[in-house]
Amino acid sequence: MSKEEKAIEILKRFKQDHVVNWMEKLTEDEKDKLIEQVLNLNIEQVINLYNNLSKTFEIENKKIEKISAIDIDKLEKDVFLNYKNIGENIIKNGQYAVITMAGGQGTRLGHTGPKGTFKVKLDNGEKYLFQIIVESLQKANEKYNTVIPWYIMTSEENNDQTLEFLELHNYFGYPQDKVKLFEQGKAPLISIAGKLLIGRNKLIKEASDGNGSIYKSLAKNDIIEEMKKNNIKWIFVGGVDNILLKIVDPLLLGITVSEGNKIASKSVIKRNAKERAGVFCKIDGKPSIIEYTELPEEMSEEVDSNGNLVFGDVNILSHLFNIEALQELSTKTLPYHIAEKKSDYLDENGNLINPKEKNVYKYESFIFDAFSYYNEMSILRVKREEEFAPIKNAEGNDSPETAIKLYNEKINKTDMKTFTNLPV
Ligand code: UD1
Repeated sequence: MSKEEKAIEILKRFKQDHVVNWMEKLTEDEKDKLIEQVLNLNIEQVINLYNNLSKTFEIENKKIEKISAIDIDKLEKDVFLNYKNIGENIIKNGQYAVITMAGGQGTRLGHTGPKGTFKVKLDNGEKYLFQIIVESLQKANEKYNTVIPWYIMTSEENNDQTLEFLELHNYFGYPQDKVKLFEQGKAPLISIAGKLLIGRNKLIKEASDGNGSIYKSLAKNDIIEEMKKNNIKWIFVGGVDNILLKIVDPLLLGITVSEGNKIASKSVIKRNAKERAGVFCKIDGKPSIIEYTELPEEMSEEVDSNGNLVFGDVNILSHLFNIEALQELSTKTLPYHIAEKKSDYLDENGNLINPKEKNVYKYESFIFDAFSYYNEMSILRVKREEEFAPIKNAEGNDSPETAIKLYNEKINKTDMKTFTNLPV
């Protein structure tokens, strides 16, 4: 069977005849590219997901309990300093690396271009989100006399633009040989009617498949091997859009090592029941996070006898992994979550259609679904005003305005009352 015959057989088997028809409208060169794509895509998996919508992630019939966190405010000074000391030694020994997840598109913010290229006007100058990250790294490098390797997870949609931007800005002064971009995975979009779409590039339309893609993408790009070779033992993984994110925190490291865990994460107390953030919990006894889009209303509102939210620790995308954990997780398959999105596409005549309503299912895996592979993890509850100023929306909550305010308040705070307020 020729490659073309094979591709046609697959498409017909999964009732995607419109793609076969589309193929006939292409030049030989375009057709070859589409055939290659069909042969390399896991169409079966996507169609199965579509056919079994209810078999993807679900929390029904699972035992969900509260999980405990270490509150930074409740640590005794000597315990705090001991943890910090343990973490500092790891960083000084060059065993720490940072990954920024920057594969998302930031559509809610309305910024065209990678989210890291968004600029904010702060009291200490106008800065891009990537630049703020570089500044934190540089500050830590100076303090610990090291150069922390910085990895950036991009996606097919934004990799070239990200690279161009960083080159244009000379990596904001960061040693270029310590910065590496790697592309995350992608998955085909599927229309509400169960059909693959054709994108502007005349191929089947794909999109990045969620930040849970990180584990397999790291392995695929040989980064885990590279880290091992360079004696990296602990890897911090953070989001791109929190301008108060503490990407180098010896305290979190020290706690995780002392508790004998391979993974850790930070939380802040949920603002109110409606805050759109994932919540920490235990699912069937394993540490987990339930995303805000999937948290049932009654759970989000449940309070204990003191009136506090039972699921009141929210995810601030501040995760820590031991290198062994990253290696182990790169071999696991995470569940897909489904989101309905709006996506343009080419119709059978090649006209670009811009739908007004949501028209596709997008499949995404979440980085935190991997936590459940472990029985325990360390969770450090930190102060929102110190470490969480995300930029998600163009206005209102978690917007540039609210984030800039929090950032300015922090840098302008002159009285550092407690030892936990010490910078870096
Ligand atoms: C995310 C968290 C949520 C948390 C909130 C706090 C996930 C799945 N959700 O929600 O629990 O409370 O942040 O701010 O982690 N990304 C990729 N590739 C993708 C998709 C996303 O790299 O395919 C990156 C983004 O660039 C971003 C991060 O992952 O840095 C979070 O993605 P986003 O889609 O913005 O998640 P939120 O809805 O904000």
